[in-house]
Amino acid sequence: MSRLKTLGIVTTGGDAPGMNAAIRALTRFGKERNLHVLGFHKGWDGVEAMDFEILGARTVGGILQAGGTFLQTSRSKALRTDEGVKKLTENLDTLDVDALAVLGGNGSMKSAFKLGEQSSTRMIGIPCTIDNDVYGTDETVGFDTAVNTAVEQIDKIRDTAKSMGRVFVTEVMGRNHGFIALHTGVAVGADVILMPEVEYTQESVIENMQNCTKRGKRSGLVVMAEGAGDSREITRILDYYLNADVRLSILGYSQRGGSPSARSRFLANLFAKEAIDSLTKGDEDILVVLDDHGVGTIPLKTSVSNEKKIDEEYLALNRVLTL
Ligand code: F6P
Repeated sequence: MSRLKTLGIVTTGGDAPGMNAAIRALTRFGKERNLHVLGFHKGWDGVEAMDFEILGARTVGGILQAGGTFLQTSRSKALRTDEGVKKLTENLDTLDVDALAVLGGNGSMKSAFKLGEQSSTRMIGIPCTIDNDVYGTDETVGFDTAVNTAVEQIDKIRDTAKSMGRVFVTEVMGRNHGFIALHTGVAVGADVILMPEVEYTQESVIENMQNCTKRGKRSGLVVMAEGAGDSREITRILDYYLNADVRLSILGYSQRGGSPSARSRFLANLFAKEAIDSLTKGDEDILVVLDDHGVGTIPLKTSVSNEKKIDEEYLALNRVLTL
């Protein structure tokens, strides 16, 4: 059985609400097993610079409800070169880090896998990203919070849209994936949902919105992911072709912040417990996931070699719901 005395924790890539909850839970479940817990600062940059703090049950008190990550994070270049990977591997050895919990999204899991291939430190991925784009898990920590934030804001936008008979194009986050757009769109009853994964034409968007008017709708709502095209252009085109004022509202980074929802906190706790249990069993280079069987683990390799797909059935469902 591999040694498990020191656990490192690192938050990498874009922050997500619930990362703090995951750090707290990992530390406390780790302490229950008498582990020495180190929290690296500013993502991979902290591992590269050996910049860390020792975490204990009390040092992680009072952070459960806070958005962001108190360890801080970065979009680091540290793992982009072979020398970088070597340096991080050596630092983890020097600090006797037996296992490293990597909290982040799809890109972070690819980095963790790359590092795990070279290093004797065991990697455990904890999916934490508002984008929900990590293959193998139905949900990531932070996704539910981001969708709730977007829904709350778009509900307010709808009030003014209805009052003034306007059409709104609302842009939500998601450069490569449309999970936030799809779930938010269904939740707010968007007339059209645009995502990077689903091809569309400007003509089809215009036609859909014109049909809404024909069905008697006096205002309208388009929800689009930031990676689904140019929201300014879509707004301009709709404004030209529809017999209504069309406005654009880009929701932006507020979706990445804020206090985590109860669901995001709960998921963070369950993922952390599973992570410590799996490491105790001797597992290495794995990802904690939520799937049909509940919370479990899959090989990191499986996750990083596959692309998570959006559920197009939800789009079909929305077409009927917005009739
Ligand atoms: O963290 C995920 C995410 O917010 C995406 O939805 C978005 O496309 C991207 O990060 C923005 O990245 P950056 O933090 O580099 O501006």
